[in-house]
Amino acid sequence: MAFTDVSMLAIAGAAAAAVALVLLYRRLVSQPKLNLPYLRFEDGNDSRERYVTDTPALLQIGYEKYLKHGQAFAMRNYVDDHHPQVILPIRYLKEVRNAPESKLSFPYYSEQIFSLKDTGGLFHTPEGTQMVRVDLNRHLNALTPRMHEEAIAAFEKLLPPGKDWVPVSPYAIFSYAIGRVTALALAGPELAHNDEWIGLTAKITVDIMQAAQGVRAKWHPYTRWAARWFFEPVKVVLASKKRAAELLKPVLEKRQAALKEGASRREKGSTPIFNDGVQWLLETYEAKGRKLTPEELAHHELFAAIGAIQSSVATTVGVLFDLLDHPEYLGEILAEIEQVKNDAPDLPRQALNKLWKLDSFLKESQRLHAVGQVRLNRAAVVPYTFKDGLHLPAGTQISFLLQVPNLDPDLFPEPQKFNPWRFLHKRQQGDADKNHFASVSDDNIFFGNGAHSCPGRFFVTDEIKLLLVHLLTRYSFKYATEGEKRPADIIHDNASYPNIMTQVLYQKK
Ligand code: HEM
Ligand SMILES: *[C@@H]1O[C@H](CO)[C@@H](O)[C@H](O)[C@H]1NC(C)=O
Ligand SMILES: *[C@@H]1O[C@H](CO)[C@@H](O)[C@H](O)[C@H]1NC(C)=O
Repeated sequence: MAFTDVSMLAIAGAAAAAVALVLLYRRLVSQPKLNLPYLRFEDGNDSRERYVTDTPALLQIGYEKYLKHGQAFAMRNYVDDHHPQVILPIRYLKEVRNAPESKLSFPYYSEQIFSLKDTGGLFHTPEGTQMVRVDLNRHLNALTPRMHEEAIAAFEKLLPPGKDWVPVSPYAIFSYAIGRVTALALAGPELAHNDEWIGLTAKITVDIMQAAQGVRAKWHPYTRWAARWFFEPVKVVLASKKRAAELLKPVLEKRQAALKEGASRREKGSTPIFNDGVQWLLETYEAKGRKLTPEELAHHELFAAIGAIQSSVATTVGVLFDLLDHPEYLGEILAEIEQVKNDAPDLPRQALNKLWKLDSFLKESQRLHAVGQVRLNRAAVVPYTFKDGLHLPAGTQISFLLQVPNLDPDLFPEPQKFNPWRFLHKRQQGDADKNHFASVSDDNIFFGNGAHSCPGRFFVTDEIKLLLVHLLTRYSFKYATEGEKRPADIIHDNASYPNIMTQVLYQKK
């Protein structure tokens, strides 16, 4: 064998080894090492499309096969094929809840899911969150009567009186009413009476989801940064942000001027002249010597609107359908409302808190038809290892199941039965503070859990009750056709919500 042949072989061998090493290295680096069972559809169709409509069925299997035995599992990540997502059993809740943001992050998860960098979407803002968590909750007692007035005005505008039954879209009326009540609390009376603002804030969540889905479907990862100039759905999001700042500008300027004159100075014990998100944010900025611009204000406001509007609308639409499906309970709910109103006609918060039956009905509606299949979504910023050794590569998304456990007969007897007083009985028999609609606990993660648990949950509970009290006492509702039932929920991967196309009929009482 000639020398050159040998050296050729050696070179070829070395080259092959180098290629193998590079491949191995890339596998080690880019392929997450997840030592978990991987759940897929095993009937021969594990296509991507399958996950659009059938994800809940797969989650059900994963719950029974793994989660119920305390075992986590991995599955396809609809949003990112290269990073399987991990679904955790509830025993990891405490650790996830306590993990620092620098390791398991909610903002980072949102950034991934909404492709925020490429869609002009709205990054999580601490100021927007504080506006809700600290200020809104602190002022809720004072705000409730004004929210009530706003709710009544919204319905009077949307549901003119008449003798006949009139078709109406629950999704449309609740989008407007909730958009308006939210605007009153977070943006102030000026914008609560501005239909452009209400439309813009109600729609922004949908716009961002469409932009994110569109960018992922139509743009290669390397070119996505350019989508903002050429891709219509992204341009829509950017235009909404710009317009929001324009609408907020005069409001902000008025508040800044008033603050300068001392006109809004809060006397101890007196009701402040301005009491809404714009004012609270402005005062927070002033206290820190920072200048609040209309653009920054728009960011905080829209971020809060994303949390505040669509999920509340979906929840309320679902409750209305359930009320139509179970008219036999309406009498008791109305009797409770009447009793509470007799003592406190204006329905201050303390009165709303006494509507235990309505509260229990809301919670049962949610138990059977959760808005969203998962909660406590987080992404690992760095590789993360749980105490028991379970390892998450950086970038891994984790979630806990919301809907599936709610139908577990071991947790809820006769789980398929709509029992409106299920949680009422729990409150009466046990801890009255635990089983109400706004409560969060280890076995109830509708509003999340831990540091990020929904700060708007007390507000939204009051809001939904105010809307329903007015509707149920002033109007009658029924389905458009005899024998109709609640339509099937709409499913899109993890998302689930009531059918927003269904119309019902109303008549003024
Ligand atoms: C039925 C309606 C609502 C549902 C189901 C809901 C649910 C949630 C959930 C699950 C979280 C994340 C918690 C976690 O991952 O641990 C959250 C966060 C948040 N929600 Fe809500 N929410 C609702 C209404 C509202 C309302 C009305 C507001 C504002 C007034 C609001 C503002 C926020 C904000 C600002 C955050 C971020 C909190 C943070 O990062 O610390 N939400 N919500
Ligand atoms: C797989 O399931 C999806 C969703 O149900 C469906 O659209 C698709 O046609 C199915 N593919 C095959 C090969 O059966
Ligand atoms: C559903 O939740 C998982 C778990 O975090 C996540 O990886 C996935 O991308 C989510 N899908 C959508 C459409 O939000």
